[in-house]
Amino acid sequence: MISKASKAGLARRRYDRLAFLYDLLETPMERLRFASWRARIRDRVIGNQALEVGVGTGKNLPYYPRCTDVIAVDFSPRMLERAQRRASVLGLEVELREMDVQNLAFPDCVFDTVFATFVFCSVPDPVLGLKQLRRVCKPGGRLLLLEHVRPGNALLGLVFDLLNPMVVRMIGANINRRTMENICRAGWQIRVQDRLSSDIVWWVEAEP
Ligand SMILES: C[S@@+](CC[C@H](N)C(=O)[O-])C[C@H]1O[C@@H](n2cnc3c(N)ncnc32)[C@H](O)[C@@H]1O
Repeated sequence: MISKASKAGLARRRYDRLAFLYDLLETPMERLRFASWRARIRDRVIGNQALEVGVGTGKNLPYYPRCTDVIAVDFSPRMLERAQRRASVLGLEVELREMDVQNLAFPDCVFDTVFATFVFCSVPDPVLGLKQLRRVCKPGGRLLLLEHVRPGNALLGLVFDLLNPMVVRMIGANINRRTMENICRAGWQIRVQDRLSSDIVWWVEAEP
Protein backbone atom coordinates (compact mmCIF):
# COMPACT_ATOMS: atom_id res chain seq x y z
CA MET A 1 0.00 0.00 0.00
CA ILE A 2 1.54 3.34 -1.10
CA SER A 3 1.05 6.19 1.39
CA LYS A 4 -0.51 9.54 0.40
CA ALA A 5 2.83 11.29 0.82
CA SER A 6 4.71 8.90 -1.45
CA LYS A 7 1.94 9.04 -4.09
CA ALA A 8 2.26 12.83 -4.10
CA GLY A 9 6.08 12.56 -4.25
CA LEU A 10 5.85 10.22 -7.22
CA ALA A 11 3.42 12.51 -9.07
CA ARG A 12 5.56 15.57 -8.31
CA ARG A 13 8.73 13.90 -9.63
CA ARG A 14 6.91 12.91 -12.82
CA TYR A 15 6.01 16.55 -13.50
CA ASP A 16 9.49 17.72 -12.54
CA ARG A 17 10.90 15.33 -15.16
CA LEU A 18 8.34 16.35 -17.77
CA ALA A 19 8.59 20.11 -17.23
CA PHE A 20 11.18 20.80 -19.95
CA LEU A 21 9.03 19.02 -22.57
CA TYR A 22 5.56 19.96 -21.37
CA ASP A 23 4.91 23.01 -23.54
CA LEU A 24 6.36 21.34 -26.63
CA LEU A 25 4.21 18.22 -26.19
CA GLU A 26 1.07 20.29 -25.84
CA THR A 27 1.74 22.75 -28.67
CA PRO A 28 -0.57 21.18 -31.30
CA MET A 29 -3.57 20.85 -28.94
CA GLU A 30 -2.83 24.22 -27.39
CA ARG A 31 -3.08 25.92 -30.80
CA LEU A 32 -6.06 23.91 -32.00
CA ARG A 33 -8.27 23.95 -28.92
CA PHE A 34 -6.84 24.61 -25.47
CA ALA A 35 -5.98 28.30 -25.88
CA SER A 36 -9.55 29.22 -26.82
CA TRP A 37 -10.92 27.21 -23.88
CA ARG A 38 -8.47 28.84 -21.45
CA ALA A 39 -9.63 32.28 -22.59
CA ARG A 40 -12.86 31.74 -20.60
CA ILE A 41 -10.84 32.37 -17.44
CA ARG A 42 -10.64 36.06 -18.30
CA ASP A 43 -14.42 36.57 -17.96
CA ARG A 44 -15.28 33.92 -15.43
CA VAL A 45 -12.88 34.79 -12.59
CA ILE A 46 -14.75 37.00 -10.09
CA GLY A 47 -13.66 39.11 -7.13
CA ASN A 48 -10.38 40.56 -5.91
CA GLN A 49 -8.63 37.39 -4.81
CA ALA A 50 -8.22 34.23 -6.86
CA LEU A 51 -6.24 31.03 -6.54
CA GLU A 52 -5.02 28.88 -9.40
CA VAL A 53 -3.87 25.39 -8.43
CA GLY A 54 -1.61 23.26 -10.62
CA VAL A 55 -0.46 26.33 -12.55
CA GLY A 56 2.08 24.18 -14.40
CA THR A 57 4.17 26.20 -16.85
CA GLY A 58 1.75 29.12 -16.53
CA LYS A 59 -0.32 28.68 -19.67
CA ASN A 60 -3.27 30.46 -18.08
CA LEU A 61 -1.28 33.54 -17.08
CA PRO A 62 -2.19 35.51 -20.22
CA TYR A 63 -5.87 35.13 -19.27
CA TYR A 64 -5.67 36.35 -15.67
CA PRO A 65 -8.00 39.34 -15.30
CA ARG A 66 -5.98 42.49 -14.54
CA CYS A 67 -8.16 43.61 -11.64
CA THR A 68 -7.85 40.37 -9.65
CA ASP A 69 -4.87 39.36 -7.50
CA VAL A 70 -4.06 35.77 -8.36
CA ILE A 71 -1.92 33.42 -6.30
CA ALA A 72 -0.84 30.38 -8.29
CA VAL A 73 0.47 27.16 -6.78
CA ASP A 74 1.91 23.88 -8.01
CA PHE A 75 3.72 21.06 -6.26
CA SER A 76 6.37 20.71 -8.98
CA PRO A 77 9.30 23.15 -8.58
CA ARG A 78 10.39 22.61 -12.21
CA MET A 79 6.94 23.50 -13.55
CA LEU A 80 6.88 26.56 -11.29
CA GLU A 81 10.25 27.74 -12.63
CA ARG A 82 8.73 27.77 -16.10
CA ALA A 83 5.64 29.60 -14.88
CA GLN A 84 7.92 32.20 -13.28
CA ARG A 85 9.75 32.65 -16.59
CA ARG A 86 6.44 33.06 -18.44
CA ALA A 87 5.24 35.64 -15.90
CA SER A 88 8.47 37.64 -16.40
CA VAL A 89 8.13 37.54 -20.19
CA LEU A 90 4.53 38.74 -19.89
CA GLY A 91 5.52 41.39 -17.35
CA LEU A 92 3.04 40.02 -14.81
CA GLU A 93 3.38 40.17 -11.04
CA VAL A 94 1.99 36.83 -9.89
CA GLU A 95 2.64 35.19 -6.55
CA LEU A 96 3.81 31.66 -7.37
CA ARG A 97 4.14 29.17 -4.52
CA GLU A 98 5.14 25.56 -4.18
CA MET A 99 2.17 23.84 -2.58
CA ASP A 100 0.12 20.65 -2.73
CA VAL A 101 -3.58 21.25 -3.46
CA GLN A 102 -4.31 18.40 -1.06
CA ASN A 103 -2.88 20.48 1.77
CA LEU A 104 -3.33 24.18 1.03
CA ALA A 105 -1.53 26.57 3.40
CA PHE A 106 -4.29 29.20 3.32
CA PRO A 107 -6.94 30.08 5.90
CA ASP A 108 -10.60 29.19 5.27
CA CYS A 109 -12.80 31.36 3.01
CA VAL A 110 -10.18 33.71 1.51
CA PHE A 111 -10.58 33.41 -2.28
CA ASP A 112 -13.43 34.69 -4.45
CA THR A 113 -12.50 32.30 -7.27
CA VAL A 114 -10.50 29.09 -7.22
CA PHE A 115 -9.58 27.52 -10.53
CA ALA A 116 -7.58 24.84 -12.29
CA THR A 117 -7.11 23.51 -15.81
CA PHE A 118 -6.20 19.89 -16.56
CA VAL A 119 -5.12 19.30 -12.96
CA PHE A 120 -7.57 16.94 -11.25
CA CYS A 121 -6.56 14.15 -13.62
CA SER A 122 -3.22 14.01 -11.82
CA VAL A 123 -3.88 15.04 -8.20
CA PRO A 124 -3.35 11.79 -6.25
CA ASP A 125 -6.50 12.27 -4.12
CA PRO A 126 -8.77 14.52 -6.23
CA VAL A 127 -11.65 14.63 -3.73
CA LEU A 128 -9.29 15.80 -0.99
CA GLY A 129 -7.90 18.50 -3.33
CA LEU A 130 -11.41 19.64 -4.27
CA LYS A 131 -12.39 19.75 -0.58
CA GLN A 132 -9.36 21.94 0.11
CA LEU A 133 -10.45 24.30 -2.67
CA ARG A 134 -13.90 24.45 -1.14
CA ARG A 135 -12.41 25.24 2.26
CA VAL A 136 -10.41 28.23 0.98
CA CYS A 137 -13.22 29.53 -1.25
CA LYS A 138 -15.47 32.26 0.21
CA PRO A 139 -19.20 31.57 0.54
CA GLY A 140 -20.63 33.02 -2.68
CA GLY A 141 -17.33 32.35 -4.46
CA ARG A 142 -16.82 29.98 -7.36
CA LEU A 143 -14.82 27.09 -8.66
CA LEU A 144 -13.78 27.00 -12.34
CA LEU A 145 -12.42 23.84 -13.88
CA LEU A 146 -11.33 22.77 -17.34
CA GLU A 147 -10.86 19.01 -17.16
CA HIS A 148 -10.83 15.83 -19.18
CA VAL A 149 -12.80 12.96 -17.68
CA ARG A 150 -13.65 9.30 -18.23
CA PRO A 151 -15.95 8.99 -21.27
CA GLY A 152 -19.60 8.14 -20.56
CA ASN A 153 -19.76 5.53 -23.31
CA ALA A 154 -19.38 2.11 -21.63
CA LEU A 155 -17.00 0.62 -24.20
CA LEU A 156 -14.83 3.72 -24.52
CA GLY A 157 -14.78 4.02 -20.72
CA LEU A 158 -13.42 0.48 -20.51
CA VAL A 159 -10.74 1.26 -23.12
CA PHE A 160 -9.70 4.33 -21.10
CA ASP A 161 -9.58 2.17 -17.93
CA LEU A 162 -7.28 -0.30 -19.67
CA LEU A 163 -4.98 2.38 -21.10
CA ASN A 164 -4.89 4.41 -17.89
CA PRO A 165 -1.93 2.73 -16.10
CA MET A 166 0.29 3.22 -19.18
CA VAL A 167 -0.73 6.89 -19.60
CA VAL A 168 -0.13 7.58 -15.89
CA ARG A 169 3.39 6.12 -16.17
CA MET A 170 4.11 8.19 -19.29
CA ILE A 171 2.66 11.60 -18.45
CA GLY A 172 1.29 11.41 -14.91
CA ALA A 173 -2.34 12.03 -15.94
CA ASN A 174 -5.27 9.68 -15.34
CA ILE A 175 -7.58 9.51 -18.34
CA ASN A 176 -10.42 7.80 -16.49
CA ARG A 177 -11.18 10.15 -13.61
CA ARG A 178 -14.86 10.62 -12.70
CA THR A 179 -14.30 14.29 -12.02
CA MET A 180 -17.96 15.43 -12.03
CA GLU A 181 -18.73 12.90 -9.30
CA ASN A 182 -15.57 13.95 -7.43
CA ILE A 183 -16.64 17.63 -7.53
CA CYS A 184 -20.00 16.70 -5.96
CA ARG A 185 -18.38 14.36 -3.43
CA ALA A 186 -16.22 17.28 -2.30
CA GLY A 187 -19.41 19.22 -1.51
CA TRP A 188 -19.54 21.63 -4.49
CA GLN A 189 -22.81 22.45 -6.28
CA ILE A 190 -22.23 22.32 -10.03
CA ARG A 191 -23.89 25.31 -11.79
CA VAL A 192 -22.38 25.14 -15.30
CA GLN A 193 -21.28 22.06 -17.16
CA ASP A 194 -20.18 22.79 -20.75
CA ARG A 195 -19.17 19.91 -22.96
CA LEU A 196 -16.19 21.14 -24.99
CA SER A 197 -15.01 18.03 -26.79
CA SER A 198 -17.31 14.98 -27.07
CA ASP A 199 -18.11 14.04 -23.46
CA ILE A 200 -14.46 14.01 -22.45
CA VAL A 201 -13.39 17.64 -22.01
CA TRP A 202 -15.60 19.88 -19.85
CA TRP A 203 -15.76 23.41 -18.55
CA VAL A 204 -17.30 23.35 -15.07
CA GLU A 205 -18.42 26.12 -12.74
CA ALA A 206 -19.48 25.31 -9.18
CA GLU A 207 -20.40 27.00 -5.91
CA PRO A 208 -19.38 25.95 -2.38
C1 LIG B 1 -1.39 18.47 -16.83
S1 LIG B 1 -0.56 19.72 -15.92
C2 LIG B 1 -1.59 21.14 -16.23
C3 LIG B 1 -0.83 22.42 -16.03
C4 LIG B 1 -1.64 23.69 -16.32
N1 LIG B 1 -2.75 23.84 -15.41
C5 LIG B 1 -2.13 23.71 -17.74
O1 LIG B 1 -3.35 23.85 -17.96
O2 LIG B 1 -1.28 23.63 -18.65
C6 LIG B 1 -0.98 19.32 -14.25
C7 LIG B 1 -0.27 20.22 -13.25
O3 LIG B 1 -0.85 20.01 -11.97
C8 LIG B 1 0.19 19.91 -11.02
N2 LIG B 1 -0.30 19.11 -9.91
C9 LIG B 1 -0.73 17.83 -9.94
N3 LIG B 1 -1.09 17.42 -8.72
C10 LIG B 1 -0.89 18.48 -7.89
C11 LIG B 1 -1.07 18.67 -6.50
N4 LIG B 1 -1.49 17.68 -5.72
N5 LIG B 1 -0.79 19.88 -5.99
C12 LIG B 1 -0.34 20.89 -6.77
N6 LIG B 1 -0.12 20.75 -8.09
C13 LIG B 1 -0.40 19.56 -8.65
C14 LIG B 1 1.35 19.26 -11.77
O4 LIG B 1 2.60 19.50 -11.16
C15 LIG B 1 1.23 19.94 -13.13
O5 LIG B 1 1.94 21.14 -13.18
